Parts: sequence; structure tokens; C-alpha cells
Amino acid sequence: MTNGKPATMKALISDMRAKREHLQQGGGPERLAKQQKQGKLTARQRVDALVDADSFEEFGLFAQHRQTHFGMEGKEVPADGVVTGAATVDGRLIHLASQDFTVLGGSAGEVHSLKVAEVMRRSLETGSPFVFVNDSGGARVQEGIDSLSGYGQVFFSNVMLSGAVPQVSLICGPCAGGASYSPALTDFIIQTRKAQMFITGPQVIKQVTGEDISAEALGGADAHMTHSGVVHFIADDDQEATYLCRRLLSFLPSNNLEEPPRLPHDGDVDPNPKLDDIVPVDPKHGYDVRSVITNIVDKGDFLEVQSGYAMNMVVGFARILGRTVGIIANQPAVMAGAIDINAANKAARFIRFCNAFNIAIITFVDVPGYLPGVEQEYGGIIRNGAKLLFAYSAATVPKIQVILRKSYGGAHVAMCSKDLGADRSFAWPTAEVAVMGAEGAVEIVFRKEMDEAQDRATRRSELITKYREAFASPYVAAGRRLVDEIIEPSETRRYLARALEYLQSKRDQRPPKKHGLIPL
Ligand code: HXC
Repeated sequence: MTNGKPATMKALISDMRAKREHLQQGGGPERLAKQQKQGKLTARQRVDALVDADSFEEFGLFAQHRQTHFGMEGKEVPADGVVTGAATVDGRLIHLASQDFTVLGGSAGEVHSLKVAEVMRRSLETGSPFVFVNDSGGARVQEGIDSLSGYGQVFFSNVMLSGAVPQVSLICGPCAGGASYSPALTDFIIQTRKAQMFITGPQVIKQVTGEDISAEALGGADAHMTHSGVVHFIADDDQEATYLCRRLLSFLPSNNLEEPPRLPHDGDVDPNPKLDDIVPVDPKHGYDVRSVITNIVDKGDFLEVQSGYAMNMVVGFARILGRTVGIIANQPAVMAGAIDINAANKAARFIRFCNAFNIAIITFVDVPGYLPGVEQEYGGIIRNGAKLLFAYSAATVPKIQVILRKSYGGAHVAMCSKDLGADRSFAWPTAEVAVMGAEGAVEIVFRKEMDEAQDRATRRSELITKYREAFASPYVAAGRRLVDEIIEPSETRRYLARALEYLQSKRDQRPPKKHGLIPL
């Protein structure tokens, strides 16, 4: 009403536009400038960087908290500190939430979290990935247990979405305490070098344990990549984080009922002679298995996941003739490619992601065994190593094994052997499938004979050669049907492309049950 007269539609619209514009300013120019000065994008700029131009539809710009304590009565909190909505990335639907640090430090009040949980529900209902950009001081202190309850709803929603739609977390600012458990429940975490993530911060740690550590060293992106294995990708800044997220999504289906998108391809499966020279025939020599991968996949394009963690096991996404594949490979350049606790966990988790989202798995094997050591045994290599066996056995997507060189012992079985359900096993002529390496084997089988020999060293060397001739080749394994075909390295891409084509219609039925019991 203006002067007792009803307002005109024009005036109402103009009023609404002003309100909208005002709310879109978040915490106001000063706080936005502070954010920018720190080299960070704002919540809305992050959305713009992530999604296709003009595709964002916002839900809940006008949402407001309903707290009255601690100065909150009547306090305007734009969008309640989180931008939520739907958009497209490369033309495909996603749902997202982006916390606005300029509004009460992006703190998560009741309505803030309910908005996030609601947009997650939309994600599930429409079978579209969910992306959560985190930049928050955690639970909104003024809202007490209401904010805790809100967090609970987000965690529950994370679990409902798990395995149904891909979930990606971007950590672009503080993410502390319980807040870090939503990212932990998602499939991939991309952390920027400007962000920190921890359960208890440096001050509390100092009080409780006396340990003195900077926030960066404790919860920075590099710490989480190297030590904890919590993050999957590191980005220098927000722009790179959104780029990585788009790139990651390009490999994934929108949900568990769809196949991953197939990109156009030129059908090229010509032999690549470079592959004949990468793997040294001498099993004592290392090499970087990533050069095998990039010489096989489309355009050499390999998106490595957790590239700085458990580097003895390489995992990531690539494509063959436009089809997404998940790649798992021992890395002979690090710890000779032996499998330790962290490597087993890293690979098992990746396998389960691929299986949940219909992504075929290719495994490149060059492994001397599980890593020996007291630390590994006390750390539970039995329980953790078993996760790898479990994950491969439980996976029903097409599974292809390529044995490059060593494939010894329990590790041979664990690395997607035919006995764990590989649909194809290819071996290069350099492959050695054996219960263990020749050096170790002769010490067990021929110790007495060597001890009694006049010249132990010469006898040992003869026996090693004998053992090698008998077992260190792919032919015995192929004879036993542990290997389907021995192939020329240069032709690997052609074999893989054909196998993926023929396995497209694979159906693998399992006995009905609530769920298997992976040894967590
Ligand atoms: C309410 C908060 C807040 C919070 C920050 N702010 N965190 N408001 N609740 N949790 C507000 C600040 O009061 C300030 O408001 C604005 O956000 C910016 O914060 P600054 O401190 O000026 O920013 P900065 O110096 O960059 O420091 C960021 C920070 C710090 C490190 C995140 O704000 C901080 O330590 N916040 C508290 C963190 C925390 O203890 N959270 C609760 C954890 S308990 P003005 O108006 O001055 O700009 C928890 C439990 C979850 O999360 C359990 C789930 C199961």
C-alpha cells in the first residue's frame, strides 16, 4: 500500500528485484572484498565458475533463519548463508550447494542445513550429481543444537545419495569439526591450497596433547593428500577446483542407473610401438606405470585420483574409444609396487566407486607382493589388504586384468585375477605369474641343497635360473587358464577396446542379501 492505495504490479516487481539484488550481495561489499583479497571467489562466483552459463536456477534465496537468541532476532542472513539450486555442467543436470563465508562465516544454522538437505533430495529424485562447495565456520554457534540437528540431516542425506548419484565436495575455505564429515561421506574431495580441514584445530590439539602444529601443516590440502588420504584432488585456487570438478563429472554417469557418457572417438586402435619399450624386462628395474596407461588410453588423457597418496598404487579415470574406464595399477617406481595398507584401501574404495556407477575396471599388474613389515602387520594389513580382495570380488562391472610383469603370490590373486572374477586376463610376454619371486622361492625350497653345495652362491644362482625358466613367464599361467591371452604390448589398446565392447552386455547376478561385509 502506498498512501492507502494498493501498490502497482510494477512497483512490486521493482521492490522484489531490489530485495533480490540486495540478498545476492551476501554479507555486503566489505566482506565480499575481504574474501576476494584472500584470493578466493565468492559463493556465487564459485557457482558461476562451476556451471554452464545461464543455467543456474536458485532455490531459497529468500530463506531466513528463525532464531531469536544472541542478537539473531530480526537479523538478516541472506539465503541463510548458503546458495543452493540446480544447473547444468556440459549440458548435464547437477544440484549444488555453495556456502557463503561472507554471511555469518558461512556457518550452518538450521535453515542453512535444511536447504542443503533439500537440494540433495532433489539430486536423488532427479538422478543428478550433487556438488557441495564448503567454506564455513561450522555449526552456527547462535543456533545451538538446531544447527547440530541440521548437520545430522545433511549427513543422513549424504548416505542416502551414496551409490545412487555421484557426490563431490569442494573445500574452498574452513571446514572444521563435524562439518568435515559431510565431505568425508562424499565420493570425491577437491581441496584448494587456501583451505583447511580438520576435526580438532591446532589450538585444541596443543591444549590436549601439547603438539604444536600450524593449521596448514595439520589440515592443508597437501597434508590431506600426503598423510591422511582424505582428499582426492588438490587445486591451487577456486578456479582450478571448479575446473577439476567439471573434468571429474565428465567421466561419470549422472546416477547409478545410467552408463557413463560416451564421447565421440575416431576408432583408432592402431598398435603403439612405444609400449614395447616402457617396461624393462629385468624385474629389478622400475618404471612409471603411468606412461603405460597414457600410451593406451584415448589421447593420453588420464585423470589420476589421489596422485600424492599411496603412490605405490595408481588409480584414476580414462577413456577407451570414448568409454569411461576406471584404472588401477601397481606402480613399480614406488616401493617396487608392493601393496601396503594405504594402497589396498585406496584401490578398494576406487573399485567400489566404479562398480556403483557402472564403470568398467582395467587393472595393470606388476606387483612383487604385499609389503612385509611389523608396522604393516600391526597396522592390520590382513584386514586392510582383504578389502582389495573383497572389492574386486564383489564388483560386477566388466573387469579386465593386464599383467605387465611380476604378478606374485597373494598380490597376484588380489589384483583382479580371474579367480576373483576378471572377465579377461591378458599378459605381456614379460609377465611372471608365480607364487613368489625366484630369489625367495629357492631359499624355501632348496635351502638344504644350497647349504650342502660346495659353492652355495653358484648353486643358488643355478637354482634361481631353473626356477625362473620353469615359472617366470606367462605360459604356465596361460596353460592353467589363469591368463586368457598373451599379447604384444603395442596391441594392448586394441585388445582392451574389443573386450570392453564385448563385455558391454555383461550381467552378473549375485545372491540376494542386504549387503556384504567388507572388512572395514
Ligand atoms: C557463527 C561464525 C561462526 C560460527 C565464524 N562466524 N564462525 N558465526 N557461528 N561457527 C562469524 C564470525 O563471528 C565473523 O562474523 C564471521 O563469521 C567471519 O569470521 P572471522 O572469525 O572474522 O573469520 P576468520 O578470521 O577468517 O576465521 C575463520 C574461522 C573462525 C577460523 C572459521 O571464524 C572460527 O574459528 N570460527 C569458529 C569455528 C568453530 O568453532 N565452529 C563451531 C564448531 S562446532 P562477523 O560478523 O564478525 O563478520 C561444529 C560442530 C558441528 O562445527 C557438529 C556436527 C555434527
